[in-house]
Amino acid sequence: MMAFSTCTASTDPSPSSSFIAKASKALLIALCFNYSVATAKPFDFDSLNFWSSSPPADIKPTINNVTYSGNPIFPGWYADPDPRIFEGQYWIYPSLSLDYDKQTSFDAFSSPDLVNWTRHARILDFANVTWSTNRAAWAPTVTEKHGVYYMYFSAGDGAGIGVAVSRTGPAGPFIDALDEPLIPDVEMGAEPIDPDVFIDDDGRAYLLWGGWSHGLGAELSWDMISLKAQPVELTPPNYVEAPYMIKRNGTYYYMYSVGGWGDNSYGVEYVTSTTSPLGPFTTAATHILFPDAKIAQGTGSSGVLNIPGTDDWYIVYHRRPLDDTAANDRYVCIDKMEFNPDGSIKRINITNEGAPYTPLVAF
Ligand SMILES: *[C@@H]1O[C@H](CO)[C@@H](O)[C@H](O)[C@H]1NC(C)=O
Ligand SMILES: *[C@@H]1O[C@H](CO)[C@@H](O)[C@H](O)[C@H]1NC(C)=O
Ligand SMILES: *[C@@H]1O[C@H](CO)[C@@H](O)[C@H](O)[C@H]1NC(C)=O
Ligand SMILES: *[C@@H]1O[C@H](CO)[C@@H](O)[C@H](O)[C@H]1NC(C)=O
Ligand SMILES: *[C@@H]1O[C@H](CO)[C@@H](O)[C@H](O)[C@H]1NC(C)=O
Repeated sequence: MMAFSTCTASTDPSPSSSFIAKASKALLIALCFNYSVATAKPFDFDSLNFWSSSPPADIKPTINNVTYSGNPIFPGWYADPDPRIFEGQYWIYPSLSLDYDKQTSFDAFSSPDLVNWTRHARILDFANVTWSTNRAAWAPTVTEKHGVYYMYFSAGDGAGIGVAVSRTGPAGPFIDALDEPLIPDVEMGAEPIDPDVFIDDDGRAYLLWGGWSHGLGAELSWDMISLKAQPVELTPPNYVEAPYMIKRNGTYYYMYSVGGWGDNSYGVEYVTSTTSPLGPFTTAATHILFPDAKIAQGTGSSGVLNIPGTDDWYIVYHRRPLDDTAANDRYVCIDKMEFNPDGSIKRINITNEGAPYTPLVAF
């Protein structure tokens, strides 16, 4: 991992991984006089205004002496965040929010406390994924089993969903496991995109996925790189894409995006099951994430963090600045998610302050 203090030469186009430290890139370069940038890059982030045109992520509000993450939580145009907890850190696996042809790799971000985020560049590079068509790297999702990390990802806007493996930790590098897609085809109307991996309390693993308004699911085999059974269709009302599953107090919450990702109709709804991660889902679809005319638009494609040992939950999602109609101008945010006594999820308040400083400690 590249650390600010070591100032090592880097292939990373953004030299400072810690964005608190990268508040001034010029200062960093001045401090690290031997800093150099490798020439072999898929593209030049800076020429795209990837960092500079996105909303500033170094604003850390303080409320009642508590520092908050601010929204966005890290700089750059990113979307489709998949939040996880591995090795005593929070992790977020997003898509780079760029033209399809420039989406050729994935970055990850880690944090010990929800406030200070460190970038890990190109944890999977489509140059090494033969079937990917080297474009449209979308919506990664990561889990761990016996110390091995498995990333499921969409490639090529329909080329398929693949699985990549890292034996060196949650920052990769991830290596394509199959040299072909795990989910290669449109099935039951679902484009093979937007995977979400979910591990139940009994250790059984499930993959949920699907675009084009059809949501599918299947149990994964013990090896995590094959399906144990044929996919089944889950499609709840209004479903468009981007599933994410959580379990709380014995109830499975199947969350998904509705509306159009490129405009202000985007939002998040959920249904629940008390039976299994593959349903049946018996509650009415409930809309919980909306744009706010004072804060941001295009809110969706969410995942969820539960702070270990607590009943504190946060939704992690992307949104677009107000008065910005460029579809790919999306940045990653976090906000509190609360439950009613009957287990239903309250409508989310989207904010500029985000989540409070929450160090991951042994609870
Ligand atoms: C914030 O911290 C200062 C210094 O420790 C203390 O005097 C003050 O009462 C605190 N304010 C709040 C709202 O907790
Ligand atoms: C932020 O995190 C990085 C990596 O964990 C660490 O080196 C740095 O000291 C942290 N900065 C602050 C202000 O906590
Ligand atoms: C491809 O994988 C090899 C090792 O398997 C690695 O050395 C190389 O850096 C990777 N290339 C890219 C572009 O990630
Ligand atoms: C969990 O579910 C049980 C039974 O439905 C209920 O009594 C209890 O209040 C729930 N706990 C929480 C934290 O919601
Ligand atoms: C949203 O804000 C209202 C009003 O401040 C508050 O009562 C409610 O608890 C908040 N909801 C969440 C999920 O934070």
